[in-house]
Amino acid sequence: MKKLIRQGIEDLVPYPPGKPIEELERELGIEGSIKLASNENPLGPSPLAASAIKDKVHTLNRYPDGSGYYLKEKIAEKCKVPADQIILGNGSNELIELLIRTFLSTGEHAVQAFPTFLVYEKIVKGAGGRMSSVPLLSDFRIDLEGISRAITPETKIVFINNPNNPTGSAISKGEMTGFLSEIPDDVIVALDEAYIEFVTDDSVSRGLELLEGRPLLFVLRTFSKLYGLAGLRIGYGFGSREMIEYMNRVRQPFNANALAQAAATAAMDDSEFISRTLRVVREGLQYLYQRLEELGIEYVPTQANFFLIKVPIGGKKTYELMLREGVIVRAMDSFGLPDYIRINVGLQEENERFIRTLSKVLAGHPG
Ligand SMILES: Cc1ncc(COP(=O)(O)O)c(C=O)c1O
Repeated sequence: MKKLIRQGIEDLVPYPPGKPIEELERELGIEGSIKLASNENPLGPSPLAASAIKDKVHTLNRYPDGSGYYLKEKIAEKCKVPADQIILGNGSNELIELLIRTFLSTGEHAVQAFPTFLVYEKIVKGAGGRMSSVPLLSDFRIDLEGISRAITPETKIVFINNPNNPTGSAISKGEMTGFLSEIPDDVIVALDEAYIEFVTDDSVSRGLELLEGRPLLFVLRTFSKLYGLAGLRIGYGFGSREMIEYMNRVRQPFNANALAQAAATAAMDDSEFISRTLRVVREGLQYLYQRLEELGIEYVPTQANFFLIKVPIGGKKTYELMLREGVIVRAMDSFGLPDYIRINVGLQEENERFIRTLSKVLAGHPG
């Protein structure tokens, strides 16, 4: 078998599958656990999206609209980018894959920061490419100069996640334009903005303002976070007409399913849900920061809906102990940060329970 697999796949580690919450609860003999581990929206899905799904269910005998016409028109109107510069995906994850399948040949090179979203490396290596990872600066910001320096004549794609998962750090407009001006003309920049809607700092770069005149910039967005549609799998990307046209050649015709298209189109108009989500995240962050400071626990301030917390007993142990108390957080060892956990902001009662449980776990196990 080894001889048959593509180059690069031997090194890959499967995404930790994780058991369904119901199964974990049964095994641990607990009930009512809360999950703060996957940067999801704690409010549930957008109600307008949920109702659009109900209206669409009776059409499921038909294939979806392969052009994603209505959703792309809605995105075009909201984002002020022409529809022929937009592409839809089965989650933005699929668009990362599509970008690589369209542009990166076996043996070619890509660059990313580290730690960052783990999927970039997985997909590059799975396609037989090579990835260079540039460590973050000591304050957890992306080292843009280091990334520029890591680009070689063989580099095809550079991944930038803004704000970056798992640190929540963000790149300013000035830093981003300076960085882009250093990138050679034949290198694609994949700018993943999965969390951009949560940013509160106006000086932070917005990819859509940078598209014009940059034929090799690809901006990724998702309906999984702000709109609460992670389970539906729908993401979108923006690029030059030429880039999108090439990606459409590789794309499977029905990659964005019918329910996802209908739900996402409705969700974009759900301004009440959008404001409520942003409010819950901002107020939740304020509460969590304040309580952690009172407890003398270090954290990394964020521009996203999640953040890192330094735990004296290590992330893995904290994860295991909190799991037994029914609070699911993410240990950061796979991101090279063994002293940290990452949580997303939950509902107020979930945030309170997180703080209570963390205090209990740390008090019972001094570092
Ligand atoms: C940085 C980043 N990009 C993309 C995604 C994936 O988004 P989607 O659900 O649209 O595939 C995530 C999800 O966790 C993420 O953290």
